Amino acid sequence: MERDPKTIVVGVTGGIAAYKTCELVRGLVKRGHRVKVVMTEAATRFVTPLTFRTLTSEPVTVSMWADAPDARIHHISLAEEADVVVIAPCTANVIAKLAHGRADDMLTTTALASEAPLVVAPAMNVHMWRKPVTAGNVATLRARGAVIVEQVSGELACGDVGEGRLAPVEVILEAVEAELVRVRDLAGLRVLVTAGGTREPIDPVRFIGNRSSGKTGFAIAEEAARRGARVSLVTGPSALPDPFGCEVVRVETALQMRAAVLARATDADIIIMSAAVADFRPAIVASDKIKKADAPETIALERNPDILAELGARDDIRAVLVGFAAETTDVETNARGKLAAKGCHLVVANDVSDPTLGFGTDENRVLFVTAAGTERMDVLAKRAIARELLDRTAALVRSR
Ligand code: CTP
Repeated sequence: MERDPKTIVVGVTGGIAAYKTCELVRGLVKRGHRVKVVMTEAATRFVTPLTFRTLTSEPVTVSMWADAPDARIHHISLAEEADVVVIAPCTANVIAKLAHGRADDMLTTTALASEAPLVVAPAMNVHMWRKPVTAGNVATLRARGAVIVEQVSGELACGDVGEGRLAPVEVILEAVEAELVRVRDLAGLRVLVTAGGTREPIDPVRFIGNRSSGKTGFAIAEEAARRGARVSLVTGPSALPDPFGCEVVRVETALQMRAAVLARATDADIIIMSAAVADFRPAIVASDKIKKADAPETIALERNPDILAELGARDDIRAVLVGFAAETTDVETNARGKLAAKGCHLVVANDVSDPTLGFGTDENRVLFVTAAGTERMDVLAKRAIARELLDRTAALVRSR
């Protein structure tokens, strides 16, 4: 059920640009949002809580230890209520804390506890901004999925000239609105996601498997559910917990995955095949554990059906089809080949020759390949990849 109005948690940190946050808060209130302000101690040196309280008609929180407006644990309830968390201005210090997961005041604790999209609008002295350590912290936040509203160049309060000024209030407002659109833009759509790797048994204890952790598919399922879709996640064995709000079907083999997918495919609006499906399975599965002495020299294999190709070839499936391609050479060419061969609308390609990215890691660098062209993405958190992929997939659904 859509919640209206939206709740925006605005974090204010200790920089002179804090006075501009009054305009930001006014703008958000004017657009009909419920705004709850959290300030750092330092921010209160620049603007008083009373100013924000008056603008929002809501209590303003500074201390972790003040009596909460209700009996709930306040940083958790604020974190849960937030549809978007926006921090403006965000100092170098708070950027560093966010990047490292520190939670030593109300604002950073709320930010860490929240699952809502995070929009960060930095403002600081130009030299602080240009320090590699700050650049690294900003890159960490961006890679994890935070939206960074770049500050602009100009004369700074300290007299220096350079980048460091808070972005214009209008630009920050638009960034918040863009996140709000994403909040429910998949409402009414059925999304079927596969994840993880399949296991093809050799005997009751041994199997042929692969290194897929399921992280990407789980992130896609979770993000799609957060954006309002009805999500079914069909996954091979994975240590990850069920993503919130999804139907989760845990399977072992490619044949089981195929059955679970086909049972749901005709109803789906979007099918995202991120699973690493084994192409082959042992032709004979021993019913008892094979003893060393009886072990065969070779294991005969049989081809598994290609689930994605089968979906792509069927007339009764109307879903936008997304395939994945893990490649070690000629990434784009191979991905484009799969787009055509498997009849899908988009292929997410990644180069798995780099051991620091891909299988089991939290980040990846991917290409989005469609009939219209190729987009090369930076290294992104799997959650951010999920967000970008769903943006493009939703656009493909709308364009039909
Ligand atoms: N896929 C599938 N069923 C299979 C194999 C793959 O649905 N039996 C899907 C995967 O979920 C993924 C895409 O197809 O979306 C990956 O295809 P691909 O990489 O072609 O599989 P490979 O067999 O690895 O192709 P190749 O070895 O030729 O690169």
